[in-house]
Formats: sequence, C-alpha cells, structure tokens
Amino acid sequence: MSVQIAPSLLAADFARLADEADVVGDVADWLHVDVMDGHFVPNLTIGLPVVEALRRHARLPLDCHLMIEAPDRWAPGYAEAGARSVTIHAEAASAPVRTLRAIRAEGARAGLAFNPGTPVPGHADLLPEVDMLLLMTVEPGFGGQPFLDLVLPKIRRARELISAYGGEVWLQVDGGVSEQTIERCAAAGADMFVAGSAVYGSADPAGAVQALRNLAVAASAAHSGGRPAG
Ligand code: DX5
Ligand code: ZN
Repeated sequence: MSVQIAPSLLAADFARLADEADVVGDVADWLHVDVMDGHFVPNLTIGLPVVEALRRHARLPLDCHLMIEAPDRWAPGYAEAGARSVTIHAEAASAPVRTLRAIRAEGARAGLAFNPGTPVPGHADLLPEVDMLLLMTVEPGFGGQPFLDLVLPKIRRARELISAYGGEVWLQVDGGVSEQTIERCAAAGADMFVAGSAVYGSADPAGAVQALRNLAVAASAAHSGGRPAG
C-alpha cells in the first residue's frame, strides 16, 4: 500500500489557485478539488470552468470530489474536462453503476464517497466499479473541522472489504487530516490522504506535505507488520 497525499485547494487562496497548486507541485501526488453546489452541502465553491482552467495550469493530476446533489448528471463532465479522478457521493447518486462507468469511460479513475454516518458494506457490490473509496472524516461542506475518530473503525472495515474483494481500490480519507490524526488513519488502512488546512494553513505548505507523508508512511509500514510501504 503506497501513501499518496492530496492537498485540498478548499483551504487555498481562491484568487491565486495556479500559484497555490504550484507550491505543492513537486511534493504532492494529487490536487484535491472540492466541488460543492450549495444543495448537497450548505456551501458553494467551484465548478467545471475552474476545473478546466486548473487543468491547464496545474502540474498535478486533479482529484475532483463532487459534493453535489446531481452527480449522475455532472460527474462525467468533470472527467471529460480532464480530472484524473472523479468521486461521487453514495448518498447522492441515483444510478451509481452508470455514473461510475461513465467516469471511467472518459478515462478517469472513479471514486465513491461516504459521509461519516453512511455505512460502506451496503455498497460492497460496487467495488468492481470503483478505483477508490473516500471516507469522510468530517461532515462534508467545510474545511478546518475537527477529525471524527468515530470513523476509524469504518476505515478498518472498509480496508477489510477491499482486501476480501481482492482488487486494487484506494482508500481515501478527507476531513481534519493533520499531523495529529494522519497516523491513526494510516494504521486503520487508509492510503490516500486529503489535507486542506494542515497544508495551506501552514507557513510552509510543501514542508507540511512532506511531514504528513513521512508520518503516514511510518504508520502504514508499522500496520503492515514492518514491511516497507509501497
Ligand atoms: C470538506 C472537504 C475537504 C476539506 C478538508 O467537505 O471535502 O476536502 O477541504 O479540509 P480540512 O483538511 O481542513 O479538514
Ligand atoms: Zn474533499
């Protein structure tokens, strides 16, 4: 299991997105882009035109997290716009198989996200249709919220489901991930870490990414019995 870090632009300066993307361009693996529609979550952020512009200016691949109430309608467009990963919420999708397949058909990785209170096992049959599960470790909608420890057992159970399934599915955590919480997530089996305020709230965002990666690598190596992560 290799560790991947995805800084969330939600905590960046929206008037300087290209520069903010550049600051972590050499050290992060993905740029996490939070798309919110003011309906699925009570916040409004950015949409397709900004994703298209970012794609032209950012070196890192874009990981679009769609917190919108009509992902079946909009998600394939984000893949078409050049996002390399597009994640829809299990609570919002009415035709998840069709939508996940449409994302993949556009050449992007397909992700399925779960709010803290949404159980994963009822969606286990969808594992062959996804490249990543995203477990929210806060209620979605805003950056800077405290990490919810109650999600840790769910991370462990999701990792077990993925192992039992046997395919390669990444397990992403998003919300309150910081130097104080990332080790718990890695030890529970997460391998992709979104961090907004822990990166862009730091005076040294690139250094923060490195520090998060080091902690996650060490914790996941310890978790896998001391074998090197990778
Ligand atoms: C919250 C978003 C997150 C957010 C995380 O709904 O999905 O990606 O940016 O921000 P932090 O890391 O500050 O909790
Ligand atoms: Zn997110």
